[in-house]
Amino acid sequence: MPPRHGNLVLAAALLVLLASPRPSCAAAAPRRRDPVVVPVTRDPATSLYTIPVRYYDNLVLDLAGPLVWSTCAADHLPASLSCQDPTCVLANAYRAPTCNVTGGGGGGDCSKNVCTAYPYNPVTGQCAAGNLAHTRFIANTTDGKNPLSQVSVKAVAACAPRKLLARLPRGATGVAGLAASGLALPAQVASSQGVAGKFLLCLPRLGYGQGVAIFGGGPIYLGEGLPDFTTTLEYTPLVAKRDNPGYYVTANAIALDDARLPLPRGALAAAGVALHTTVPFGQLRQDVFRPFVREFEKGLNRSDAKVAAVAPFLLCYNASMLWNTRIGYFVPAVRLMLAGGKNYTMTGTNLMVDVKGGKACLAFVEMKSGDAGSPAVILGGFQMENMLLQFDSEKKRLGFARLPFYTSCSNFNFTRTQ
Ligand SMILES: *[C@@H]1O[C@H](CO)[C@@H](O)[C@H](O)[C@H]1NC(C)=O
Ligand SMILES: *[C@@H]1O[C@H](CO)[C@@H](O)[C@H](O)[C@H]1NC(C)=O
Ligand SMILES: *[C@@H]1O[C@H](CO)[C@@H](O)[C@H](O)[C@H]1NC(C)=O
Ligand SMILES: *[C@@H]1O[C@H](CO)[C@@H](O)[C@H](O)[C@H]1NC(C)=O
Ligand SMILES: *[C@@H]1O[C@H](CO)[C@@H](O)[C@H](O)[C@H]1NC(C)=O
Ligand SMILES: *[C@@H]1O[C@H](CO)[C@@H](O)[C@H](O)[C@H]1NC(C)=O
Repeated sequence: MPPRHGNLVLAAALLVLLASPRPSCAAAAPRRRDPVVVPVTRDPATSLYTIPVRYYDNLVLDLAGPLVWSTCAADHLPASLSCQDPTCVLANAYRAPTCNVTGGGGGGDCSKNVCTAYPYNPVTGQCAAGNLAHTRFIANTTDGKNPLSQVSVKAVAACAPRKLLARLPRGATGVAGLAASGLALPAQVASSQGVAGKFLLCLPRLGYGQGVAIFGGGPIYLGEGLPDFTTTLEYTPLVAKRDNPGYYVTANAIALDDARLPLPRGALAAAGVALHTTVPFGQLRQDVFRPFVREFEKGLNRSDAKVAAVAPFLLCYNASMLWNTRIGYFVPAVRLMLAGGKNYTMTGTNLMVDVKGGKACLAFVEMKSGDAGSPAVILGGFQMENMLLQFDSEKKRLGFARLPFYTSCSNFNFTRTQ
């Protein structure tokens, strides 16, 4: 194996060895209840991620979604909430800019004590009007190692018509918004279960089994004898946007291995880096995408292995001609140099996707609506798989860590301790 990556692997192993295996105990702090764990499944057809919330009910994870919605049973009881009720106000705090449905009067039919919300499908961009209803989600508490005991989590969800499920995975019955808003799933689990206002997300790679999400945050153990991986998290501030409860961080530069990508002045300043579980591959704004692909190709310097590109990608190689390492194909590492001084580093495993015909392609596409207000970088599911991410709305920061090659997000032990 070429030396650069050998060192990286060694460094990752050392980091894990040095990390303390014991979480520090803050005896004086008020005791929080045990966090809530759910398995995360990647759907092969749509590349979306789902979680089970009740028997036979699966919701699509949407990091940018402000609500939880599902196709409620025909006989569901709408929550009796006036349109001035704080819950109804929260349900209508954010509305997708493309959502132009009318009806319900934006906040509810005030004469009937019914609260209307506007559930949104992040894949099709469609929305609909639907009543808020009380519901319960069934999950397990966890100590970070195994499930402990079953809990029924009280929540409020918007009811949507079946047609809003278009292009979601087969068997999905709605969307679990994970954004930093009052009626998204993390805030609802925090208030009904008494856990911290943060959650861990560890997305699985297709074909390796289930990943894991823990509402309330770490610790998290991903294999016998391995330490709590939240001790390896690095942090960067989350940037709040006025009209958008999704998650954004600031990048000061992008580096390929050690060379900073030459970008137009201010290209990264405006809208930063967004994280989306509903786009399968990363997207770069036009002014960032072009230099990025050009410099990546130059940095890899393997024109001998280059092959015709496969849409939607622009740069593809003959997979059998690239070096394969334990951290993916041997290609330049891409580092988002984030506010706070830490790098979100992606190696071959989060950069190169295998496509049919024995090709491996750079897993980024050019953003469609690339105006100056768009984020410069959107990290998609592929860029977050086998990364440990902790979204902390209380401390307003994102924790992130690349899992070492010898474990993965699919190594959480979902067997209950007897
Ligand atoms: C809502 O937007 C869609 C396309 O985004 C458009 O076709 C439709 O006419 C709009 N409806 C209203 C009521 O404005
Ligand atoms: C809770 O954990 C047990 C043991 O792994 C499992 O059988 C059960 O399905 C889990 N419950 C839910 C709702 O995930
Ligand atoms: C981040 O990446 C840049 C470019 O490779 C490097 O110079 C810098 O030392 C890295 N920072 C950290 C904290 O690793
Ligand atoms: C690119 O590869 C060629 C052939 O292997 C080599 O001669 C050249 O020095 C390389 N260029 C750079 C910039 O590494
Ligand atoms: C890749 O290279 C191998 C060996 O050189 C060759 O047999 C194969 O046809 C190439 N595949 C593509 C997609 O170019
Ligand atoms: C998972 O946890 C159970 C209960 O603690 C234990 O018996 C089992 O050996 C664990 N499985 C693995 C693969 O570590």
